[in-house]
Amino acid sequence: MSKEFALAAFKSLGTVGAVYPSSKYLARKMTKRVKRDLKSIVELGAGTGTITSSIIEQAGKTCRINSFEIDSGLYVGLSSDPIFSRYDNLHFHLASAFDFRRYLDSAERPDLIISSLPLAILPKPQVIRMLLDAKEVLRPGGVFVQYQYSPESFSMLKRIFSKVETSVELRNIPPALIYTCSI
Ligand SMILES: C[S@@+](CC[C@H](N)C(=O)[O-])C[C@H]1O[C@@H](n2cnc3c(N)ncnc32)[C@H](O)[C@@H]1O
Repeated sequence: MSKEFALAAFKSLGTVGAVYPSSKYLARKMTKRVKRDLKSIVELGAGTGTITSSIIEQAGKTCRINSFEIDSGLYVGLSSDPIFSRYDNLHFHLASAFDFRRYLDSAERPDLIISSLPLAILPKPQVIRMLLDAKEVLRPGGVFVQYQYSPESFSMLKRIFSKVETSVELRNIPPALIYTCSI
């Protein structure tokens, strides 16, 4: 996606929950668990595709990547980006992340779910349902990775997942907290 388009699309939105796209440093930390041999990765809230790029650079060509974005302007930017179009294994969905399970193959158990959703400004019951879905569908040993700009969602993640590791990325506007949640 071109930088100009991305910034314009991003700044005109109310549901984005951010002022700028994620930095490449945040994207790297969010995708630390991506390995060549993974079979399925889900991305929630792809936005301008910074984290998507980092996922495709590190995942193998046979890994199925399902990426969700609810905003149609951002979705058009993602799905028309010639860099992303080269990857047959990357599937963008103009759909709510809350419905992500409907888009998985029946036996698909993601290895990783990587979320940029602004949890703090989304309806809590739907967020909790989505987190429970993520926990249920991840393969054994699978991980849910989430970033946020405030510690508000930490206690909710702690209640749902068995272990939540926290790290910080200062080289992002604003600095971000990264939660790596084990099922
Ligand atoms: C903080 S931004 C993501 C930033 C992204 N990492 C980037 O670098 O551009 C959050 C994204 O989640 C999307 N979003 C919000 N609610 C959503 C939902 N229910 N389903 C899918 N995407 C959603 C927003 O449109 C926005 O693009």
